Amino acid sequence: MSFPATRPRRLRETPALRQMVRETTLTPDDFIYPMFVIHGQNVRREIKSMPGIYQLSVDQAVTEVGEVTQLGIPAIMLFGIPAVKDAVGSENFSDQGIVQQAIRAIKAANPNLIVIADVCMCEYTDHGHCGIVENDEIVNDATLEILQKAAVSYAQAKADVVAPSGMMDGMVGAIRSALDAEGFASVNILSYAIKYASAFYGPFREAAEGAPKFGDRKTHQMDPANAREALRELALDIEEGADMVMVKPALPYLDVIRRVRDACHLPVGAYNVSGEYAMIKAAAANGWLDERAVVLELLTGIKRAGADLILTYHAKDAARWLRDRD
Ligand code: PBG
Repeated sequence: MSFPATRPRRLRETPALRQMVRETTLTPDDFIYPMFVIHGQNVRREIKSMPGIYQLSVDQAVTEVGEVTQLGIPAIMLFGIPAVKDAVGSENFSDQGIVQQAIRAIKAANPNLIVIADVCMCEYTDHGHCGIVENDEIVNDATLEILQKAAVSYAQAKADVVAPSGMMDGMVGAIRSALDAEGFASVNILSYAIKYASAFYGPFREAAEGAPKFGDRKTHQMDPANAREALRELALDIEEGADMVMVKPALPYLDVIRRVRDACHLPVGAYNVSGEYAMIKAAAANGWLDERAVVLELLTGIKRAGADLILTYHAKDAARWLRDRD
């Protein structure tokens, strides 16, 4: 049957019809809000390339989290800016580390909020790399021991989920065994299983002060040209015990999100990264795009591609827009 008997426009006639047949529904339940915590009191420093996103001291982060939970967003992801950086990133696994302090304060004020701690060395090392550096090379297996200590330390502070983001081989298995050995069998691992060596992380590196001082991340992060390889990374992380997996960035990799969704039964996350956010904010500030409309469209697109969870700096705005939708 074809035209004129068949008219797809019939189902688009009214808002009620469109809503009834809508295939993808966005809700604040889908969102994870990334936050940057820094030492000090009453610090609220806006990141220039990410308008609306701040480096926050713990007291300010607690206030901000109050807003996040009010909006119905179930989870946050924490990144820390340490007081001192060194070769092994000591603050990453210190009980007095900034993220450990933030987790304790935030969980005390919001026991039901899911607190996720990013586990990587780049914000904590003086060279800005995601691992131990020897002879200008990132050494995989020595790095795993540091990641184990950091994950255990976040679990001790009462993180619900740890999220290794350094793309070291074996990182999920190493963290799982360390958590289990220390009595944290119930702490989840959200693996940045498929993380590309992307230029879209630029603004984040300003926000987290974690840009590499030399070289790049291409020996551990994936080549943007590869999608088959994503399934290999996925299989390894499932074998090593990941509870959830993530694809990152999101918008240039919607095909990868779909492939990963179809290839496994785990919850799949997608990270709508800093550069993706910055592009929208810059265009909106110039009046070139309708921010609300494009943000809801792009988040819907990420979900339609197969993401169950969306890490996004737009989370608070989007939750507000969804709530106030006519
Ligand atoms: C590494 C990490 C990065 C991001 C999240 N975790 C930066 C990198 O790999 O260089 C990027 C997030 C974003 O751009 O929003 N700890």
